[in-house]
Amino acid sequence: MRVSVIGCGHLGTSHAAAMAELGHDVIGVEQDPEKCRALAAGRAPFFETGLDELLAKHTAGGRLRFSTELAAAADHAELHFVAVGTPLRPDGQGYDVDQVVGAVRSLVPLLHRPCTIVGKSTVTVGTVTRLQAIVDQLANVPGVELVWNPEFLREGHAVIDTLKPDRILAGLSSTAARKALEEVYAPILARGEAQLIITDPATAEVAKSAANACLAAKISFANAMAEVCELTGADVAEVTRVLGIDPRIGPLGMRPGIGYGGGCLPKDLAAFTHRVKELGAVRAAGLLDAVEAVNQGRLEAAVELVERAAGGTLDGVRVGLLGAAFKAGTSDVRDSPALRLADRLHLRGATVVIHDPQALPYAQRALPLAQYRETALEAAADADLLVIGTEWPEYVANPQLPSAAAIMVRRLVLVDVRTAVDPAPWSAAGWSVWQLGRPVSRPTVPPATAAPAG
Ligand SMILES: NC(=O)c1ccc[n+]([C@@H]2O[C@H](COP(=O)([O-])OP(=O)(O)OC[C@H]3O[C@@H](n4cnc5c(N)ncnc54)[C@H](O)[C@@H]3O)[C@@H](O)[C@H]2O)c1
Repeated sequence: MRVSVIGCGHLGTSHAAAMAELGHDVIGVEQDPEKCRALAAGRAPFFETGLDELLAKHTAGGRLRFSTELAAAADHAELHFVAVGTPLRPDGQGYDVDQVVGAVRSLVPLLHRPCTIVGKSTVTVGTVTRLQAIVDQLANVPGVELVWNPEFLREGHAVIDTLKPDRILAGLSSTAARKALEEVYAPILARGEAQLIITDPATAEVAKSAANACLAAKISFANAMAEVCELTGADVAEVTRVLGIDPRIGPLGMRPGIGYGGGCLPKDLAAFTHRVKELGAVRAAGLLDAVEAVNQGRLEAAVELVERAAGGTLDGVRVGLLGAAFKAGTSDVRDSPALRLADRLHLRGATVVIHDPQALPYAQRALPLAQYRETALEAAADADLLVIGTEWPEYVANPQLPSAAAIMVRRLVLVDVRTAVDPAPWSAAGWSVWQLGRPVSRPTVPPATAAPAG
């Protein structure tokens, strides 16, 4: 199928590359000329696991190209994905939908054959109705359909989640729109692994917001339990393990720590809460407010943990911070908890030296006041404390790191604000390990050599 993807940021680029992988003939439209040049050369202007390989393969093979011109998309495609940004408004009162409205308003008059516009951006309930009115008003040809197809991918797994989604949700109201959607996702649906769920547009809009609110709630619940464990001496990692065995609860997305961040959950929860309040759903708003309040409190809890681990003050303390991305698998530092922590530690008088395997240039731009190093061990050099800020496998599943870092630091103190490391190998290498909602894991004293008998 000939498709376009309008807006090639984190979502759109992964989607365009995945659509080419599925066999479609794809044009990506990105208004930023610099990003567009990088994409056309087969490189993403950010890191996402597995993305560069797909981009290189399909730009070289000719199934994927990029343009800054919407007219190129209108000429090429019979189906247009809209994946532009929906940032939070500066006043926090819902989404700024200018990019979505702007893209649809500019695209529709250029269309000269029946086609389907498939929105992927996350929007507030009611937005599709507004966009449908724009389509009805500006379309010069009959048969321009509008579908809302929210995206559930996880950053860091964007490529694989797009190629192998667990569900495809489409809010639509015509048979032609349904057919187009079934055709574009046919290679996925043929495998029989993904559920196709067709609803009205409002249900699709609410389902996406509800999904992110539910994920945020699960994280905040685990974090609320971490707070309880902190006060009782219980171990939150064990508590969440016990909870997760129950199939009604499940183990995924339950890791306690510094809280959620990134380009989606914080803004989607804020926008949804705002809309829920506008609608007058008071109890739903109370629940969503509580989720957000727990999340807000995690940064302070993490700062206090680092301070305690440092011996009561951060003034003059050198912190080696491993991780700047908001999560592992991506270079995205939008609303990154690791960088928020770095900022707060700096304000309390610490010197923060950061490493991240993929996000360094983005972190440097977002937080110039920190120092940056090219390797984890350089960031650890002379540190009074080592802090895990992002759960990259090279930090949390690297059996060499505890002993390699031990000879670099001044004090063997590890603070893991992601609750991602197994303390045992660190303790065995002489470290004390501090995690939110868990007892401190002290260095394991090597067993005394038994005196020879007799
Ligand atoms: N990032 C994710 O993992 C993810 C997951 C699910 C849903 N979403 C949703 O997808 C949408 C996009 O998110 P993102 O993280 O990719 O945002 P982003 O800011 O990284 O990307 C948006 C891109 O669209 C471009 N753009 C804006 N208007 C344009 C136009 N008229 N023509 C061409 N390009 C245009 C911008 O230059 C930018 O590069 C948001 O609504 C987000 O909530 C994102």
